[in-house]
Amino acid sequence: MTDRTTEQLKDELLALALEAAAKAGELLRDGRPADLGVAATKSSSIDVVTEMDLAAEKLITGLIAQARPRDGILGEEGASVTGTSGVRWVVDPIDGTVNYLYGRPEWSVSVAAELDGERVVGVVEVPTRRETSHAVLGRGAYLNGERIAHRPSPPMAEALIGTGFNYVRTVRTAQAEVARVLLPQVRDIRRAGSAAIDLCDVACGRLDGYYERGLHPWDLAAGDLIAREAGALTGSRPGEPPSYDLTVAASPGVFGPLQRLLDELGAWHD
Ligand code: IPD
Repeated sequence: MTDRTTEQLKDELLALALEAAAKAGELLRDGRPADLGVAATKSSSIDVVTEMDLAAEKLITGLIAQARPRDGILGEEGASVTGTSGVRWVVDPIDGTVNYLYGRPEWSVSVAAELDGERVVGVVEVPTRRETSHAVLGRGAYLNGERIAHRPSPPMAEALIGTGFNYVRTVRTAQAEVARVLLPQVRDIRRAGSAAIDLCDVACGRLDGYYERGLHPWDLAAGDLIAREAGALTGSRPGEPPSYDLTVAASPGVFGPLQRLLDELGAWHD
């Protein structure tokens, strides 16, 4: 594909990602039943799915299938389509389902597109903040249309770090131990409850860094690209890209010390 054609394709994918995330966000914000309950559980009894996760994924995958029927799709709630176009969509209809269930505001819709295995578009919609973050590979990151950048890096002792805890109790016991050692070494720790929002918060300077073990591709695909395009660094264990074992994102001066400390603490395993 020529560069010009690739750039046009990225424009098309971005427009579709923005449309799908906005429509799903609207459905979720305006259509949340007052008596919303748990429809199913996944990795443990506290890893929940609501009817609205399912409805939002259906809406997003329907829009994608209609506009681009040859694309692949991977969705948190089971969407799995092997495409033939070289494009694959990675979708989290509600990132922060527990917050959504409890009526807390920190939840998002995350839609990313990969081209030949490389992330090229990411959109994170946060309806309760009326915020849309997006990035296109090589074109920077934006919040409601304004270019964003990470915060200037403070020393580790003054860094505000986000994290999250897994739904599996043995994993979160190990995560609590990592947080116990990290907490006295930084300004403070935040646990918002949506990995996609955490990554966008690093991107726009609301956090100095973020780490978590146990993220799935749909939790991190869009937010990782947005953080990188905002100039933040992302990774896992030293030299590795973000993964289920460990995801680290931070402004450049915080990333190295944070990653080294997490590695010393064995933050990627029990
Ligand atoms: C969860 C959120 C949460 C993180 C969990 C994720 P979900 O995603 O991102 O912040 O701590 O690891 O699974 O289940 O609400 O889509």
